[in-house]
Amino acid sequence: MTGPVPELEDRAAACADRLCEADRVLLASHIDADGLTSAAIAAQALERADLPFETVFEKQLDETAIAAIAETDYETVLFTDFGSGQLDVIGDYEDADAFTPVIADHHQPADRETEYHLNPLLFGIDGASELSGAGASYVLARALAEASDGTTTGVAADGGTAVESTESHPRADNRDLAALAVVGAVGDMQASGGELHGANANIVEEGVDAGVLETGTDLAIYGKQTRPLPKLLEYATDVHIPGISNDQAGALRFLEDLDLELKRDGEWRRWSGLTGEEKQVVASALVKRAVSRGVPAHKIDGLVGTSYTLAREPVGTELRDASEFSTLLNATARYERADVGLAVCLGNRDGALERARSLLRNHRRNLSAGIDLVTSEGVTNEEHLQWFHAEDRIRETIVGIVAGMALGNDGINRSKPIFAFATKTDDGAESGDEDPAEVKVSARGTHSLVRQGLDLSVVMSEASRVVGGDGGGHDVAAGATVPAGEESTFIERADEIVGEQLS
Ligand code: C5P
Ligand code: C5P
Ligand code: C5P
Ligand code: ZN
Repeated sequence: MTGPVPELEDRAAACADRLCEADRVLLASHIDADGLTSAAIAAQALERADLPFETVFEKQLDETAIAAIAETDYETVLFTDFGSGQLDVIGDYEDADAFTPVIADHHQPADRETEYHLNPLLFGIDGASELSGAGASYVLARALAEASDGTTTGVAADGGTAVESTESHPRADNRDLAALAVVGAVGDMQASGGELHGANANIVEEGVDAGVLETGTDLAIYGKQTRPLPKLLEYATDVHIPGISNDQAGALRFLEDLDLELKRDGEWRRWSGLTGEEKQVVASALVKRAVSRGVPAHKIDGLVGTSYTLAREPVGTELRDASEFSTLLNATARYERADVGLAVCLGNRDGALERARSLLRNHRRNLSAGIDLVTSEGVTNEEHLQWFHAEDRIRETIVGIVAGMALGNDGINRSKPIFAFATKTDDGAESGDEDPAEVKVSARGTHSLVRQGLDLSVVMSEASRVVGGDGGGHDVAAGATVPAGEESTFIERADEIVGEQLS
């Protein structure tokens, strides 16, 4: 049978076979929505294959983190959503027989190879827009089901097809894990023009077949499951609708003027609870309003997109919508509570959802305060980029999200990439302790800049190397750590590189 991403199938099978040879596996993953869903997919696949494992999360897979992994007595380490960019360091440990790495990642690989390396970029698939870490982990999970399945259910004599029908057993073939893969892709902002593309689209299809995902054309606004209607519209700012976006009274008036019963028991209803007809009425009134206020047609198109609904999650919860689910996960892992996010992914074990929701309230406050800070203080413009330094006023783990969300606000032009510095917090120390010797820098661009040649992954790795730092990522979003005090040298070099890329 063919895997969800044919180009990756052989490599995935090799990785799966190697995992099946292990007595036990150390699973190491990244602390964001994509990293958490990667870990949740891998964890379930390992469990179903009867492979004992333990999970660890890292903010950054730096030399210290890799050394600590090598210190454990695990002989097989599965890295998800990172590992490729650190192959130079990992390779040294492999050569010294410290452990065998198996990697399911989508970041730009370092200049070194290893045998069990599953990364879309090695096979001509774009790791920034066509497959996420969770997607790579899903491809591996599907191969693991095949590899471990061969021994339990046998193989048909005509060569290759498993005896069990895959149609009736989405769980046995791990296709049910496609829903988490889609949450990871959406969390890494891989959807563009309103939908997922390429290998991601194949995974969506498998999830729909397995009954864990539903797709539909719907309003492309964040919060369809959980936000009361007036808040949904007031906070929807990706497409600015005059008199509604960022306008509490205006959003209320707009809804009250519609001939619909949008309140129930005195409470505003939510988009997810509306009937198809009610949605139609609200959506066309919104479009009409946008048109009458002169919003250009191509922007209005952005109001509608493909929604990815997790069919088995309860209506009206964050878990039902891929985009809200991913934000909920970021709210845990980026605040040192990856355990909570993982438990949510694994089926809300031990009331994890309630804890995640309280972390989410805190995350929202921080995002909103961060965006206010950047917008009010403004950015410094260089010739080809813009930047700000948040010091310790924005957490380094969310400064990139804030920078991305602020792009396009007053005074923050979408025609240049944005670079954001924040004081680095020390991993080993109490939370809140800072390491004044190092600064985190996050960069975000737009798809349109990428089409013009921008590659922030290259900018980050080259400009940070000049000052003795380290960085990488994707063309549209990347990060680095640089020594404190070197910010201006770094920016100077980054500005030159961006200039060369866009020329
Ligand atoms: O490490 P990882 O690949 O998971 O992180 C990707 C990051 O890039 C996410 O924080 C995501 O929000 C960001 N991103 C973005 N805009 C894009 C693509 C990704 O801000 N178009
Ligand atoms: O936090 P995360 O990176 O997952 O956010 C992804 C996107 O979701 C943001 O760029 C933003 O457009 C939207 N979002 C939002 N309100 C929030 C959190 C996220 O609109 N409170
Ligand atoms: O941390 P931030 O959200 O800005 O990260 C953006 C992207 O850059 C992520 O994909 C992350 O894994 C990557 N990154 C990296 N090396 C760093 C920092 C971030 O590859 N030192
Ligand atoms: Zn990722």
